[in-house]
Amino acid sequence: MSTDHTRDLNAEALETRARRHLWLHFTRMSSYQGSDVPVIVRGEGQYVYDSRGRRYLDGLSGLFVTQVGHGRAEIAEAGARQAAELAYFPLWSYAHPRAIELAERLSILAPGDLNRVFFTTSGSEAVESAWKLAKQYFTTIGQPGRYKVLSREIAYHGTSMGALAITGLPDIKAPFEPLPPGGVRVPNTNFYRAPDFLAHDLDSFGQWAANEIERAILREGPESVAAVFLEPVQNSGGCFPPPPGYFPRVREICDRYGVLLVSDEVICAFGRLGHYFGAQRYGYQPDVITFAKGATSGYAPLGGMIVSDRLMEPFTNGPATFLHGVTFAGHPVSAAIALANLDVFEKEDLLGNVRANEDAFRSTLEKLTDLPIVGDVRGDGYFYGIEMVKEKATRETFSDEESERLLRGFLSHALFRAGLICRADDRGDPVIQLAPPLTCTQEHFDEMEQILREVLTEAWTLI
Ligand SMILES: Cc1ncc(COP(=O)(O)O)c(C=O)c1O
Repeated sequence: MSTDHTRDLNAEALETRARRHLWLHFTRMSSYQGSDVPVIVRGEGQYVYDSRGRRYLDGLSGLFVTQVGHGRAEIAEAGARQAAELAYFPLWSYAHPRAIELAERLSILAPGDLNRVFFTTSGSEAVESAWKLAKQYFTTIGQPGRYKVLSREIAYHGTSMGALAITGLPDIKAPFEPLPPGGVRVPNTNFYRAPDFLAHDLDSFGQWAANEIERAILREGPESVAAVFLEPVQNSGGCFPPPPGYFPRVREICDRYGVLLVSDEVICAFGRLGHYFGAQRYGYQPDVITFAKGATSGYAPLGGMIVSDRLMEPFTNGPATFLHGVTFAGHPVSAAIALANLDVFEKEDLLGNVRANEDAFRSTLEKLTDLPIVGDVRGDGYFYGIEMVKEKATRETFSDEESERLLRGFLSHALFRAGLICRADDRGDPVIQLAPPLTCTQEHFDEMEQILREVLTEAWTLI
């Protein structure tokens, strides 16, 4: 497709050097021995370009990150200005203006009494920090026995040891056992795979899934449980939205047993669901929100947690110090970029764009349900999963070997070759995930649908 010969030569050299020296994350490196390493060199709006000049619709916002789209000069310039003014200073004992402004702005945007921001550099660090805070908070108020954390099956909460202990994906945990003790699993809200006795009643399914949290707290002993970590819409497994009434019931349970509710919004915050925070969409009040990714739209790394006044109280009115910190947390350049990112949200009413177009996104993707391989299309906002099945009527899924052949052997490469960046994932049942930039409109939904239709139709002939 490329017409630029010089660029092609550079592309080959880059790929060779990548194969020799670069270690890609969560990637079977041997699969690139005999094939091209995709090298993305440039982005503009909803599209990115590879080293051979080919264009791709970024249907995953990089990795659920680039909310405002690529190539925004005003955000880059805000970062450059900040680097010239004050490139770095730590948040250990000192403050700097951009961290102060950003903490205040996030407190205003966050629901209820979430008024205190502790910055990190990533989502894993945010989750790790929230668990550590929960433990130290309970120790400080005289309940040192509370250390366990509940989270849902197949949910992903990060890769550092603590975050991995909260993660519910056995395969990515196994090589690193033993992990810190205290991670307890509860069922997720995958209604497509609900137990038979609840399969036709979404409300009852939601109550059952929430009540399973209560049962787990009672089983473990309430005096040992510190927190429940939940995403507003669970990503891993293919976008499980909460059934109506699920979060209000979870809140009630947490209050009854004195357990903290942590809303892990590393993906769901900053417009992904048409609100600044997912908790606002589903009307619940967390004790902590963890965030990262969309906070800067990826123009620089930043994460953090927004904490309730109640949790902060023992640290403001007493000698207690939260014994935790990260050198680059709340980095001035990242904070300046986050502020410029939020300016774009406001100027262009990106939340309004998601709310105005999310039904159209859903109905465009739902057209794919006429394909025999598409079992379920689910999600909210600009965040969708498409579950693939072998037999629609029975919802039979693929064997491990078929899934390997379908996802790794064909779909991932075919979708990329066809010009769509998305994610074919089989950490639960096989799904394709979409989370495009919040600037997308019908033309982009149509482009996604057309590419998916073409590639999924071909995939069906290979099964
Ligand atoms: C819900 C959730 N929590 C935590 C993380 C970890 O974030 P990071 O990769 O920035 O460490 C992720 C990453 O995708 C996530 O989706």
